[in-house]
Amino acid sequence: MSWTDPRGDIEALLPQLQQIRRDIHRHPELGFEETRTQALVREWLEARGYAPRDCAGTGLIADLRPGAEGPTIALRADLDCLPMHETTDLPHRSVHPGKAHKCGHDGHTAILLGVAELLARHRDAVPGNVRLLFQPAEEGVRGGGAKVMVAEGALAGVAEVYGLHNWPGFPKGQVHVKPGAMLAQVHILTLTIAGKGGHASQPQMCRDPIVAGAQLVSALQTVVARGLGYQGGAVLSITQFSAGTTHNVIPDSALLRGTVRSFHPEVTARVMERLREVVEGTARSFGVQIELEVEVGYPVTMNHPRCAAAAARVATQLVGAERVSELGLPCAGGEDFAYLAEAVPGAYVFLGAQRAGEDTPVCHHPDFDFDDELIPTGIGLFLGLVRDRLPGLA
Ligand code: NI
Repeated sequence: MSWTDPRGDIEALLPQLQQIRRDIHRHPELGFEETRTQALVREWLEARGYAPRDCAGTGLIADLRPGAEGPTIALRADLDCLPMHETTDLPHRSVHPGKAHKCGHDGHTAILLGVAELLARHRDAVPGNVRLLFQPAEEGVRGGGAKVMVAEGALAGVAEVYGLHNWPGFPKGQVHVKPGAMLAQVHILTLTIAGKGGHASQPQMCRDPIVAGAQLVSALQTVVARGLGYQGGAVLSITQFSAGTTHNVIPDSALLRGTVRSFHPEVTARVMERLREVVEGTARSFGVQIELEVEVGYPVTMNHPRCAAAAARVATQLVGAERVSELGLPCAGGEDFAYLAEAVPGAYVFLGAQRAGEDTPVCHHPDFDFDDELIPTGIGLFLGLVRDRLPGLA
């Protein structure tokens, strides 16, 4: 086995990691409830000479060489599943109704367990320390586990942090990474329209919240399209419109929900300003009240130029220059890795997962399953970053 070329070691380890990945998949746990997964990870780490400590409740931190001379870099995996039903008939499908690993965090966890094993075999050859972060609660539903880990000191003494995500939006075999904004800031919008209901035959006696809402949805399409220039880079989607109960009643109220995503705080501010103007104008013109509630989600995930360059360099060695790309980035998804990359320089990387000639289910689709063939690339990337970064960071 070799520290500089671990490919054979990774291949040999693959069946075991695949088994663990599928075991985690069968037993998915929601954010801050990952006790079974935490125990499984703890056991794996302890068996390999680590002394893991709990963090953010159901997360874990483990140092390869605690107190070693030299710099520390951190590698992160997320542990949680999504609150949704699994529709596959896979042998390892979820045994918990309403919970499923539909983002591939089971795979990310298996990758970091593989990294832990291979690093442990070469502990004395590693010029510094590697901190493994097994993070709970990434998914936005209850998320922010990364924020809690930072608050609990998970990155104390860490020079750089790296994370990865499988992504069926990009072709399998490719690695996508860029410096600067990598993922979006997410705002969640709730718009409550209060009108005046009544008989459907007498609209003149009402303040129809459905018509106001329909107009509002249309008008909001101009916030990005007309409010930002061609370099704008924002998304505004209305994703929920609830109103009414039957055919002959104009309801009192309507509810709209949606999301704003952008890659720069100034752009977000501009979008929110235009959004408020459109909401106020629509309310006035229809004689209704519109209450806008904004929930601020994860910040922009920013890749440090130095770390993004390192990730691209390592990926090039791993998969070849023709398979390393910035296409499709930044991605309008949100990630709480943003909090880690705010605390110390870092980079977040996508591993393409779209199988050629197939309609591979995307992350968060009920048919999604992590592709185990990505495990070697993920391990190779993390180990490559350790080899690339630690010698120069001292
Ligand atoms: Ni995810």
